[in-house]
Amino acid sequence: MPDMPEPCDVVVLLSGTGGNLQAMIDSFQDAASPARICAVISNRADAYGLERARNAGIQTRVLDHKAFEGREAFDGALMDTIDGFKPKLVVLAGFMRILTPAFVRHYEGRLLNIHPSLLPLYKGLHTHQRVLDAGDKEHGCSVHFVTEELDGGPLVVQAVIPVELQDTSAALAQRIHTQEHVIYPLAIRWFAEGRLTLDEHGALLDSQPLGRNGHIIRAI
Ligand code: GRF
Repeated sequence: MPDMPEPCDVVVLLSGTGGNLQAMIDSFQDAASPARICAVISNRADAYGLERARNAGIQTRVLDHKAFEGREAFDGALMDTIDGFKPKLVVLAGFMRILTPAFVRHYEGRLLNIHPSLLPLYKGLHTHQRVLDAGDKEHGCSVHFVTEELDGGPLVVQAVIPVELQDTSAALAQRIHTQEHVIYPLAIRWFAEGRLTLDEHGALLDSQPLGRNGHIIRAI
């Protein structure tokens, strides 16, 4: 039998419940999977995502930002911790920290984020309520490469859902989470297989530009 290629080691950064982390764990649990989560790092010791990681036998680290003097010092220590695991890819999964330009540059082309809106619409917080307030007919979530602009890097994949008349912010959040748990593992799989790259023109899948919105998946 031919040797299996080494899986792509992934470090996950989170601050909260880790629903996206769980989707990744479930998606990459097969030994033949192209990606392997080698560590989960949180800035909060009480993040439930850490427990999900421990239950799956994944190494965890806590780096409390309040113990550092300023963003640069915290991000420096975070980079040291991440690099200790020698990952090929770093993914932000509900990591509630603004990252310094030095951090973002250090992981250029191998740092992904997920955001609960159809970027470039609704950067920042409270996206579901903002979609309802605007009366939008569609909502969604986006995976993108991280650049120095907050929620602003080249798009990889978006899932689009219809907004129903009776929708509440909580109902939208639930349906968006379901879509996040599909598109984040998909993007990571593409990266791990060497199919997803970033060059000076933007994100590429199989060497083809992904364009302004990335790959679009329409959910019903
Ligand atoms: C998700 O909604 C994601 O889009 C945002 O943070 C949330 C994290 O949720 N960046 P979880 O901790 O993965 O459940």
